[in-house]
Amino acid sequence: MTIDARTASTEDRALFTPLTIRGTTLPLRAGVSPMCMYAAVDGFASDFHLAHLGRFALGGAGLVIVEATAIEPRGRISHFDLGLWDDAHVEGMTRIASLLDAHGSVPGIQLGHAGRRASVREPWHAGAPLDETDALAGNPPWQTVGPSALPAGPNWPVPTEMSEAEIAESVAQWASAARRAAEAGFRYIELHGAHGYLLHSFLSPISNTRTDGYGGDTAGRIRYPLEVIRAIRKAIGDEIILAYRVSSVDGVLDGGLGIEDIVEFSRHANAAGVDVIDTSSGGITTDRSSDTRVRRGFGFHADFARAIKAETDAVVACVGFIVDPEQASRMIEDQDADIVLLGREMLDNPNWVHHARRALATDEFEHWDQRFGSALGPRLSTLQRLEESGETPLTRFEQYSGA
Ligand SMILES: Cc1cc2nc3c(=O)[nH]c(=O)nc-3n(C[C@H](O)[C@H](O)[C@H](O)COP(=O)(O)O)c2cc1C
Repeated sequence: MTIDARTASTEDRALFTPLTIRGTTLPLRAGVSPMCMYAAVDGFASDFHLAHLGRFALGGAGLVIVEATAIEPRGRISHFDLGLWDDAHVEGMTRIASLLDAHGSVPGIQLGHAGRRASVREPWHAGAPLDETDALAGNPPWQTVGPSALPAGPNWPVPTEMSEAEIAESVAQWASAARRAAEAGFRYIELHGAHGYLLHSFLSPISNTRTDGYGGDTAGRIRYPLEVIRAIRKAIGDEIILAYRVSSVDGVLDGGLGIEDIVEFSRHANAAGVDVIDTSSGGITTDRSSDTRVRRGFGFHADFARAIKAETDAVVACVGFIVDPEQASRMIEDQDADIVLLGREMLDNPNWVHHARRALATDEFEHWDQRFGSALGPRLSTLQRLEESGETPLTRFEQYSGA
């Protein structure tokens, strides 16, 4: 589809059409993907989180998803993850949800449990498992848990296999965290079911070799994720959007889940109460010699999203190197996905959505907060006049400064 940006209105492009799910309307289809910031203390949100996430709401995102937030302390990736395992965490999260809501973004949050991939350093310290050197610095490692006593990769700690009683306790923790997220005002709750973390590790035969009712065949391996989904849907009622991030493929050389398995899982998840399947990939192992990884081109999960969208009744979100407004809008128009999520692109340019409107349509500053828009209009006119007269900001500056 070719649309002339000089005459198009934003309504002409699918990226800017609203989407209503369970009575909550995303004003447009571009959202911010959850991104851990490693800035929390004891799970509590701080002013940093407000400033960081507020930029995206002011930047026009239709949905902002708060980073993976732990349902219990052992489920943190690092010591510095956000948490919702205690009622005391709700107040800080309420500030975030109301800030996002007040500036026009649907407030979203991702709940997570890192399972056997927990207890690691921040990415700028290579994301390696914590050890005694970290303990000396006041950040001790902790015992991780998983479906089976299998480490995530060579030189990773061995997790404890969860008993059936621990599984039941864990399901209740997910439900309590979701109830707190709802209390805080989030309208979109996403479960982190990807990247090798606890939910994913139950699903995949690579990490789940149990012989009881939570392992073995597909029905056994999907049991824990489905129990979590049902418990959460019960805890949050019918009005909140429930999303689930999947690894569309395990991406390992031997065995592992493929897209057909995830399509099947998505159908079950949808029937159990999930509205949105968010498509990512990989992470089941940290062993680079067996991890084939999905090639990371622009929009590299689009084929997976398209398959899930075609074969299930779920709303589908897609993430992964979506950077260009034209690319993003075409993904919606071509039925690859219903929602596009951007991660690093939004970190680089929190105003991405506003700029996308200008790139794809005549909309100049109507959708900006008027405090910015009213100032940026005249600035743009001056820059355009300058350009028409063949000048650059530098030549004009040299005139004034007499250089
Ligand atoms: C700093 C950073 C933190 C991330 N944290 C999370 C997270 O909390 N949960 C999650 O599901 N994915 C996380 N991711 C993955 C992103 O959500 C996203 O899927 C990935 O970066 C690909 O999208 P992009 O190419 O637009 O960045 C993180 C990525 C980055 C760069």
